[in-house]
Amino acid sequence: MSMNAETATVLGDLAAKGERAQWTVDELTDGGRPTLPRWVPAPFYTALVSQFYHGELATLRLCRRLLDRIGDADARRCLELQIADEERHVRVYRAYLECLGDIAQLEPTVAGVYEQALAWPGRPEAMIAAFNIVLEGEALRALDDLGGWLPCAWFRRINARVSRDEARHFAFGRFYLRAALPHLGRDQRLEIHRWLKGLWDAVGTATLDQFYVPGLITRRRRRCWVEAGWRSHRAQLVAVGLVDAGEAHLAESSATGRP
Ligand SMILES: [Fe+2]
Ligand SMILES: [Fe+2]
Repeated sequence: MSMNAETATVLGDLAAKGERAQWTVDELTDGGRPTLPRWVPAPFYTALVSQFYHGELATLRLCRRLLDRIGDADARRCLELQIADEERHVRVYRAYLECLGDIAQLEPTVAGVYEQALAWPGRPEAMIAAFNIVLEGEALRALDDLGGWLPCAWFRRINARVSRDEARHFAFGRFYLRAALPHLGRDQRLEIHRWLKGLWDAVGTATLDQFYVPGLITRRRRRCWVEAGWRSHRAQLVAVGLVDAGEAHLAESSATGRP
């Protein structure tokens, strides 16, 4: 896909910003002892942090896969920087988890969603929308929410740094898609939106059934969290031009989660 001059400038600026914002893992891998929240059992806390770690690993796999499929030089530079960022995120979360004493398994439903997203056989825009808009948007939302009630200063320092990088990845996804999506036909766009809704429903089911996050004790509150999440991601998908409001409604009424 050829980028217009404005998008090329934006992506070039974003890459330059990413280069300036590189940081070293050492700054964040030795934070002393993690402080566990008193009202959360240690295994639950480890499982929660482990989900972020596994998310980073999946995103890293996606970026490497995208590099094979994207030819634009500025977009590739953004992706290469994102790979460096995600590698650092993996290492800082791993160091933190090693101090907690364990790395918990990735929740199986979420693992399935990652595999489904990585296996998308069509155009790369769908994978960028899945990871850089929906999943990274969700990670930002969760980090933002968790940041307020987790007491560990080390974990908060990690999250502050990671969130800054994720915000840049999210911006890359937005700019790339805004330039790329007008080149897709309506059926292709609707198919991608339908697929993303299916992925989100699977993540939502896992959240409803598996994660007993303090503050989201009741199923009703967890359902509100899931619904608010999709509304926010859908607004972003509309903003980047994947669908308009009517098309979103049409696609979601027949979401299957399968490509
Ligand atoms: Fe990351
Ligand atoms: Fe990221």
